[in-house]
Amino acid sequence: MVVLEFLIFFIAFLVFKYFWDNRKFFNLARKIPKSNLDYSFLTLYSFLTADTKTIFEVFDKSFKNKKVCSKSWIGPLFFVGVVEPEDVKIILNSKECIDKPFFMKFLGVLKGTIYGDIKYWHSHRKIINPYFGAKNLLNIIPIFNEKVKTLMDNLQTFEDKGEYDVFHSMSALTLETIMNVMEYDVDIQNQKSEVRSAFVENLERYFDIVTIRCFKIWLYPDFIFRHTKMYKDQLTSISKSSLKFTKHIINHIRQQLTVKNDSNQNEKSKTFIRALMDPRNNLSEVEIEDEVKTMIFTAQDTSSTVTSTALMLLGMHKDVQQKVVKELHGIFGKTLDAPYLDYEKISELHYLEMVINEIMRLFPVVPFILRTNSTDLEISNGCILPAKTNIVIPMFELHRSTKIWGEDANHFRPERFEKENFENIHPYAFIPFTKGPRMCVGWRYAMLLMKIQLANILLRYEVDTRLKMDELDFKFNGTMKICQGYKMSIKERVIS
Ligand code: HEM
Repeated sequence: MVVLEFLIFFIAFLVFKYFWDNRKFFNLARKIPKSNLDYSFLTLYSFLTADTKTIFEVFDKSFKNKKVCSKSWIGPLFFVGVVEPEDVKIILNSKECIDKPFFMKFLGVLKGTIYGDIKYWHSHRKIINPYFGAKNLLNIIPIFNEKVKTLMDNLQTFEDKGEYDVFHSMSALTLETIMNVMEYDVDIQNQKSEVRSAFVENLERYFDIVTIRCFKIWLYPDFIFRHTKMYKDQLTSISKSSLKFTKHIINHIRQQLTVKNDSNQNEKSKTFIRALMDPRNNLSEVEIEDEVKTMIFTAQDTSSTVTSTALMLLGMHKDVQQKVVKELHGIFGKTLDAPYLDYEKISELHYLEMVINEIMRLFPVVPFILRTNSTDLEISNGCILPAKTNIVIPMFELHRSTKIWGEDANHFRPERFEKENFENIHPYAFIPFTKGPRMCVGWRYAMLLMKIQLANILLRYEVDTRLKMDELDFKFNGTMKICQGYKMSIKERVIS
């Protein structure tokens, strides 16, 4: 009895101490307006059976139509959604908001540049940055053209065959391309479609698991998680996904470095993978592996989602497809086969760029940006976000805000990116690659590849789909995907 009384007293003391020690945090948190979803433990319960579709819906609903900022307690996790572009600008550029919430460490294999702590991130980003600059990418454009040609050969299989999910072809292209950029020549696009799908589906499964874990706080301790089926599934999926190539890539480069003894090669001709492995950069084997995995994931999943969505949306909006083709014919002539696209030609594709931007506005690949602040942060409505808040920038909401984009915010209208329309929009209202020091490393890479890809496909094929925009549902597993898949049909374009 005495022991029980002591235990109750001790627990009560710990709870009291926790609230007393954090009283400043709770006082500031109390003053922040509620989001649509501030039910605390009830919300946590709703995540109990959550799948990646529910997670997207709950998060999206939470910050919908909210002004400036709003808070949400998901169990003990405190989130504040910030939707005012001026505040978004402050957060994305503040040295105090560079870090990401601790639970993002569950994205495990990606703890390289994306999820490492500040010190780790800073040193790695410094190594990688130069290799994704405009000048260096000029060396990569021939690889993009070559890989897209293979894609075009493979797409012939689907000509006039009815609807199919284009995502697997697109991600095979992006995977093969990034491997090649990392000097590893592997033939993925020509593999049997089941093999290609296995890479993609296992990667998806891996990210389903880590996303769901982020929202199930009872699975946070590793010693509990390791005893679950999810953990075993996670290990299986990683060993079967595209990430399994990591070790092959590193060993391949190591062999080359030994054979040619070229660790002192000219800095200009060095690829980023060699930079990672340069002993002067002092990265451990695990750090190199994590960085290679990060690149495989970010390069494969992101731009293939955007191009698949773009093709589907162009299938739904034939008038826009026609305008893209008109631009392509104006530049390349009335041809079915695109010539080699060099940097100058790619830069002429203005309307296509507006289409890609409009796709990334309506369907942002990363729909929620997460940060955490190391010090208290005052925002435009006078609210103070206490240090260690999990700050959410709900990009999906920001990009579809009627206040910013007008009443037709949910409509597909690439013309809103015409110079005279877009210059009236706040620069931080459209952030598909985010902005500031943690802006996407690969944004130029992605834009170049996506343009080459779409120009080739749309010159040769007329794309169609039976799906309608208002029928689409979304899920979130590290990136945002369309639940219905990316189903479309292709037939050779008739040139009039
Ligand atoms: C359409 C394609 C892409 C989109 C929309 C996109 C979007 C993003 C976004 C929104 C972030 C910031 C995430 C955050 O702040 O939490 C990010 C980060 C990153 N992206 Fe991309 N990305 C794309 C393609 C790529 C490609 C092709 C690569 C590499 C080849 C890449 C590499 C990275 C890396 C390494 C980071 C981490 C940057 C850091 O934290 O410093 N991305 N990307």
